[in-house]
Amino acid sequence: MLLNNLDEYQYWRDEKLAHAPTQLNDCIVEIDDAFNLRLAEKDKILSLCQQGNFALFQIQPIEQYDKAIISINTQLGLKDFDQHLFVKTGGLAHITQSDKKDQGEFIPYTDKNLGWHTDGYYNAIEQRIRAFSLFCVKPAVQGGVNEWVDPQMIYLLLHEDNPDVVKALIHPKAMSIPEHKVDGKVRRATSTGPIFFIDELSKQLSMRYTQRKKHIEFFDSLEIQQAVTYLDALLNTTTDYHFKHLMKTGQGIVCNNILHKRNAFTDDEDNPRLLLRGRYFNRIE
Ligand SMILES: [Fe+2]
Repeated sequence: MLLNNLDEYQYWRDEKLAHAPTQLNDCIVEIDDAFNLRLAEKDKILSLCQQGNFALFQIQPIEQYDKAIISINTQLGLKDFDQHLFVKTGGLAHITQSDKKDQGEFIPYTDKNLGWHTDGYYNAIEQRIRAFSLFCVKPAVQGGVNEWVDPQMIYLLLHEDNPDVVKALIHPKAMSIPEHKVDGKVRRATSTGPIFFIDELSKQLSMRYTQRKKHIEFFDSLEIQQAVTYLDALLNTTTDYHFKHLMKTGQGIVCNNILHKRNAFTDDEDNPRLLLRGRYFNRIE
């Protein structure tokens, strides 16, 4: 298979490089009616996701965005959603800065910088996040820019540079996140696994990763420590495949759990930044 067969890898690499998007403008799909996607709109989103694992979209201003986003995601085949702790309606979480103690533990609800990560990197395999959507209802007054890169492209670039690096990152115990306890009770079990792997369900090259170093343990070997340093260095550079965009009201992204980060932002206190996020156990195919 892809991870240990050079012929297969080279074929996959050539296909990937031939089709991978590099221009943000080519990746934005204008949606006329969120509740009734045209065939051309849907095809464009699906083909962008096949080639680069993400698509941006833009919808007309409406009163209530929740239902529109759930409808778009459902039409794209995203139905199997994660019952996240703070999901309000139909599988969408409202991401807004919160001072509530309980939510503050979860970084997305702060206004601080978020480093490169895939969503749900701490989840058990049964809860693996294969896709997510993020939609902007209200941007911040300042900041809050999103950046992202296709993890498959990161694998490819690392492999081209030094195959030993990806070999270290597919180690079955490469990255562990210790259990999460609240008042002595285990809320989430220890999560140990590879950084790059072939997802059993979709047979696709996938990734679980976070650049947070707090509460993260990498396997105790020089190869893996060095590979992680290599990976971080690549993420922190800019390649043709790194994207950066400040979402405006009405814009969103759907993706196969790509690597992403977010810059710090400043809110208008009376009208804070609000994003809607869906997380799904199935991919956009
Ligand atoms: Fe995230």
